Order: sequence, then structure tokens, then C-alpha cells
Amino acid sequence: MLFGIGQDRETERIPVQELTRLSSSYYERMKKRRNIRDFSSEPVPAELIEKAISAIPTSSHYHFEWVSDDHRKQEIRNRAEAEEKKFYEERITEEWKDVLKPLGTNWQKEHITDAPHIIVPFKKRGSENDDISSFILTGIEVGVFLSAIHHGGLCSLTHTPSPMTFIRDCLERPKQEMPIVLLPIGYPKEDCVVPNIHKKPINEILVIL
Ligand SMILES: Cc1cc2nc3c(=O)[nH]c(=O)nc-3n(C[C@H](O)[C@H](O)[C@H](O)COP(=O)(O)O)c2cc1C
Repeated sequence: MLFGIGQDRETERIPVQELTRLSSSYYERMKKRRNIRDFSSEPVPAELIEKAISAIPTSSHYHFEWVSDDHRKQEIRNRAEAEEKKFYEERITEEWKDVLKPLGTNWQKEHITDAPHIIVPFKKRGSENDDISSFILTGIEVGVFLSAIHHGGLCSLTHTPSPMTFIRDCLERPKQEMPIVLLPIGYPKEDCVVPNIHKKPINEILVIL
């Protein structure tokens, strides 16, 4: 049977009042989601990560690597810092300096070894996997995962070292897979601070026709 009513789909019609409460509660929670860079090395229950990965819409275009091993994390950090050092000391443009100034970032990436877990989504390459819809899926899947991580009370950082192919070598993945982003996951350090930047108000990003 190709279709099943009520199979893996919410079929119950929720009353509007309850929907309003649910959407407000989701909004209140999501507006507190911030990228952090100061992770505590306190352990995180593995089932929280597992559940967040299970929340991702399934797709054959992706593969997720979950790294908790200290030696692998150190190797990724060493390689990432080598790339970032070149970027901050040699390749950085004035434009990029302006973008990064409010974030206060530098070539040092302690979060890679401090965070107890690193998740790396890999995208498969090849003609059937390189169309636009496959790229759109990347954003959807990473977004759902990050939302689930925050919902589960954990923090993350969207880290995109450039170039990123060294992660594929560190994790011994085949050449036809590309790492999309490096996502350290954990609790924030006690004294964790975030950049003093604000989200745009809704009227600056939404046009209702
Ligand atoms: C595609 C993408 C790539 C990013 N790459 C990095 C990165 O390499 N290093 C970093 O510190 N933050 C990175 N960030 C995080 C942004 O700096 C972050 O979104 C910004 O600080 C806004 O913070 P907020 O999400 O807490 O509001 C990236 C974000 C996005 C969307």
C-alpha cells in the first residue's frame, strides 16, 4: 500500500485556542535560541542528540556523523584552526573584518574540543544529488535539527570552516560526500556570553500581500 491515512502524519485537528498557545510557546522558546561559542564539557545525555537527529526529515541525500571521541575532536580542531589561522592572518578582506567584528571571533576554535558532541551533516554528491531541491533540503534538515536541539535544552554553533573538506578526511568519508557544516552541541559554560546583536523585527523581513 502506497498511502496510509494517519500513518506518520498528524491527523488530529487541534482547536484554534490550543494552536495559538502552542505557536506562542514555540515562538517564546525559539526567540531565545542563540549560537554560542563557549561550551561546557559537561556530558550531555546521548538520547537528547538521538531524538534531535530522529526529528530530521529523512532523506537519502544526507548522512550525519556524530563525533564524541576526544582524539577525533582534537584532530578536527587542529585542522580547522590551521585553516582559520590562514583565513584570519592572510585571506581575510576588510569586508569580512567588518562582518566578524561584532562576533569577536578569531582563529582559535575551543568549541570543537570543549563541546561533548559534534554533528557533521554530509551531502552526497553526483548528478542526482546536486540539483537545487537537494540544496534546499540541506537547509531544512539542518534547521529542523537545530530547532530540536534547542527544544531539548541544548546549545549549538553553526560553524563553517572554509575550506571544509578536511573534515571529510578526518572522518574517513568517501570523496563523493561533502561536509555542509560543523555543529558542536552541548551546554553553555557558566560564564558564556553571546554577541550583542539583535534579530530583525518581523516588519523588516515580512511582506503580506
Ligand atoms: C551559514 C552560516 C555559517 C556560519 N558560520 C559560522 C562560523 O564559521 N563561525 C562562527 O563563529 N559562526 C558562524 N555562524 C553563526 C553566525 O555567526 C551567527 O548566526 C550569528 O552570530 C548570529 O547569532 P545568533 O544565531 O545567535 O543570533 C554561521 C551562521 C550561518 C547561518
